[in-house]
Amino acid sequence: MLDRPHPTPAAPTNDPFALAKALSGHHFIGGRFVPALSGKTFAVVNPATGEEIGRAAEGDTADVAAAVAEADRAQKEWARLPARKRGALVYQCAQVLKEHTEELARLIALETGKALRTESRVEANVVADIFEFFGGLGGELKGESVPFAPNVLSVTVREPLGVVGAIIPWNVPMLLMALKVAPALVAGNAVVVKSAEEAPLAVLRICELLSRVLPAGVFNILSGFGPECGAPLVEHPKVRKVTFTGSVEVGKIVAKAAGEKLVPVTLELGGKSPMIVFADCDFDKTVAGALTSMRFTRQGQSCTAASRIYVERPIFDRFVAAMAEKVDAMVMGDPLDEKTDIGTIISPGQFAKVKTFIEEGKATKGATGRACSAMPKDPALKKGLFIQPHIFTGLSNDSRLVQEEIFGPVTCIFPFDDAESVLAAANDSEYGLAASVWTNNLRVGLDLAHRLEAGLVQINQNLVVQANLSYGGVKSSGLGKEASLEAMNEHFTHKKTIMVNYAG
Ligand code: NAI
Ligand code: MG
Repeated sequence: MLDRPHPTPAAPTNDPFALAKALSGHHFIGGRFVPALSGKTFAVVNPATGEEIGRAAEGDTADVAAAVAEADRAQKEWARLPARKRGALVYQCAQVLKEHTEELARLIALETGKALRTESRVEANVVADIFEFFGGLGGELKGESVPFAPNVLSVTVREPLGVVGAIIPWNVPMLLMALKVAPALVAGNAVVVKSAEEAPLAVLRICELLSRVLPAGVFNILSGFGPECGAPLVEHPKVRKVTFTGSVEVGKIVAKAAGEKLVPVTLELGGKSPMIVFADCDFDKTVAGALTSMRFTRQGQSCTAASRIYVERPIFDRFVAAMAEKVDAMVMGDPLDEKTDIGTIISPGQFAKVKTFIEEGKATKGATGRACSAMPKDPALKKGLFIQPHIFTGLSNDSRLVQEEIFGPVTCIFPFDDAESVLAAANDSEYGLAASVWTNNLRVGLDLAHRLEAGLVQINQNLVVQANLSYGGVKSSGLGKEASLEAMNEHFTHKKTIMVNYAG
């Protein structure tokens, strides 16, 4: 448990600036805040202003070793607790998180630039929900009995893997961390998380908060850069399972390192998710659905963003115009302002990447890029990483904007004439994470749902990941599933067979 006094407040606080300062300069290892062994830190920046809001401990191999040693020690005892007792503690974590949702929402808005009302509060609530869901599943870590021979009882049991190394990105860091930590803990593992360098603070606060409930060392978090801190975590011999969310490029590096050690790995990588709109859809609901599907409120920084929208030709022009009008009405501004719908891009690097795609689209012959919404006027935000949402038409399916993950507020819309050709275009992608079909003809919708190459297909809606539904991609979008009871059992335990010969 945390040795107070530490400068972080015990009670929820709605001042994210003060909280960011108080959290600065630490990992959380073995139930305590600790600085990096090297003493190094790096800046955490508010992307809406460019100002430094705090510092993060810069972890390296030595910090990884310390965290894994704590996790390894703690895991042995944790695994011996009855499964439902572990679940009950994880459920209690949800209650602590619920008391702190507003605080966490404000902090994540400050460090990531995601608007408080439309995004950050939603994320904070989902985090608590994920802990609550998995907390109830301790008793569901079941094996089976297997017929073998008379007088031989043969059963399988689910056992934890040991120390789990989890590497998370910055787009929805609290939620994506929860999807890994909650099931891993219920299954009897200990976890070491490496946070994303762009968003290390809210997840650190969560780790501290949960240490009020969990035994010291079962949940540890390190901040640092990928090659210096993430890679040694993946490579550490005592890390018996790796779970990663991020880019395809780094996913491959992580998978190779896990392969060298022969440990299981789960990868949740990018997407280029198609949205298919038939002329018989509910028009207004579908236009609104396109805005949420594209995650414009998250600046499009979502692996399931509907970044390719295919609209049946008779309603194409009307659909594009209606969509542009709706995006125009969205307010871009200070992420902490309740009026704001759209905040900022996470970092200068991502900002430059998204801008390059937009310029490339604009320079493409025959293509039109509509810039929607208005740039914020507040002079305090003049260094903010704001990008107007862009809707492109007239691009070809093989252009870079249509094939590569932009991870920004950019979507490409195409007309189509029949179900077979749109299915071929939708499946013509390296990615296979999510897809949606919008139609009142369920026969057509279900046929496409079965034939779309994606881990998640929705008809007439496009919700984000849910705790109890299997989630994960095919093709370059990933390996293995997250969320759901089945994913907990398959990816955070191994199945041991035990045989008892009771012949006289
Ligand atoms: P990234 O894949 O580089 O970063 C994700 C995490 O991996 C971070 O915690 C990072 O520190 C860590 N990492 C980086 N190199 C590593 C290494 N060699 N070993 C172990 N860990 C390492 O993603 P980045 O650079 O932040 O974003 C680039 C692109 O990736 C985005 O434009 C987007 O297309 C995609 N992306 C996809 C996400 C998803 O949800 N699937 C989330 C974030 C990014
Ligand atoms: Mg990277």
